[in-house]
Amino acid sequence: MKFALSLGILLICEFAITSGKDENKTFHATNEWQEINDGQGVPAGLHIRINLQTGKKEAKLLSDEEDEDKNHHRNEGALTTVGGNVYGTNLKETTNNNLENSNTLSPESLKKIKENFKTYNELKESYKELQQKFQTDAELITGLIDEYKNLSREERDHSLSLQEKIKVQLRILEDLDYLVHQIDNALWFIDMGGLEQIILPLVVNETNINLRVKAVRVLGALTHNNPKAQIKAFEKNVGSHLAQILLSSTNTEELSSALYAFGSLLRKFPLALQRILSTSGTQALIAVLEKECELKVKAKSLTLISDVIVEKKLVLSNYADSDNPLAAAQYAELNLAEWLKSNAFCETVDVLVSSKLYELLDQPDLVEYFITGLESSIEICQSVWSKNPQLRHTLLTIKNRYMYVQDEFRLEIAQQIERLIKDLYNSINHEEL
Ligand SMILES: *[C@@H]1O[C@H](CO)[C@@H](O)[C@H](O)[C@H]1NC(C)=O
Ligand SMILES: *[C@@H]1O[C@H](CO)[C@@H](O)[C@H](O)[C@H]1NC(C)=O
Ligand SMILES: *[C@@H]1O[C@H](CO)[C@@H](O)[C@H](O)[C@H]1NC(C)=O
Repeated sequence: MKFALSLGILLICEFAITSGKDENKTFHATNEWQEINDGQGVPAGLHIRINLQTGKKEAKLLSDEEDEDKNHHRNEGALTTVGGNVYGTNLKETTNNNLENSNTLSPESLKKIKENFKTYNELKESYKELQQKFQTDAELITGLIDEYKNLSREERDHSLSLQEKIKVQLRILEDLDYLVHQIDNALWFIDMGGLEQIILPLVVNETNINLRVKAVRVLGALTHNNPKAQIKAFEKNVGSHLAQILLSSTNTEELSSALYAFGSLLRKFPLALQRILSTSGTQALIAVLEKECELKVKAKSLTLISDVIVEKKLVLSNYADSDNPLAAAQYAELNLAEWLKSNAFCETVDVLVSSKLYELLDQPDLVEYFITGLESSIEICQSVWSKNPQLRHTLLTIKNRYMYVQDEFRLEIAQQIERLIKDLYNSINHEEL
């Protein structure tokens, strides 16, 4: 989304900002905004704002009301965050010309500000810089990409240590993560080469896990509910890179963000589902169910598989009134059952659920994910699951445990398990084994 961004910062300054060079001329404040000339001394207790559109600083007297207000709220962030993270929520949500934050600054933040921004000229310079660089989200993104690219050179020049470089990289990724949730921003970022030049090298080759995880997360944000970005990412072979992470990693954060990105890439994208799940994708998702990692990560993986199964069913059941018969035909070709079976999905889930009984008992939210996953894949796995008394024992134990508690959530899950057991064993529920 592009909008002309004009950032005005309003401060109730409780200290005089003077140029230090020319204190002769003092600003005479009125109730109206007036431009402050270069080098003019500004008395204490005025509203000061800097309009990034003009680059000029303006000031006016505080009204009584605002004076009152000063005693009530403090916001320490406004000025100091501008330097580091100007693209916070305020910016995103503000389309009016002046973003005005009334602030009363605590002594500590005042001190900080005085340290950071000693003179108006310095202030003005930093805002001018922002003004020049960052007018719209698109420009913000371009600026971040440039800044990122500069880092390697600065590191080579030894003007930046590796630690510092990583810190800045993380900050840039954080900002990008925020920005690319917007569909247009994501497409702009990809068009500017951000995917190939920043994200993929990190996802594929980076050794610092924090950077890798953040990059994967940005990938997820880029493609989430964004069909055009999904196509572009798919063309860059993102699916197999993510599958590789799912196969090799055991880190919870990394696996979680890879599953998020994988889901974002695949959802409602039958061509990618076909290409990726028919090759390493299915194996990768099932590998997560098998490996040493947290149960909640496994729950996410099973949920993704289950969502794809449900998505296919939904599209096909709506086939008659579908206005997109091509998509329906593509979904019809997804041979999920075969891919899952050939990667021992049913056996893996069977072993997993049966062996994790005691861990699952105190985690009803996870149980819900697992039961929902089992329900969605029952048609594919019934023949395997119905033969294992251990699985049945597990399901019954959890159900019985949850059935008799004063907890509506557990009770609902118990009922869900009861339905599952009925479906699974195709008969009336036998309480005892
Ligand atoms: C002080 O202000 C007066 C009147 O505005 C001006 O003539 C004079 O040059 C100023 N002095 C300095 C040092 O700038
Ligand atoms: C990147 O480096 C170039 C060349 O030194 C410089 O002109 C530009 O301002 C830098 N960009 C950022 C965003 O730091
Ligand atoms: C990862 O590193 C290898 C070896 O240096 C290189 O050939 C490849 O292009 C890199 N991949 C990405 C996506 O940067």
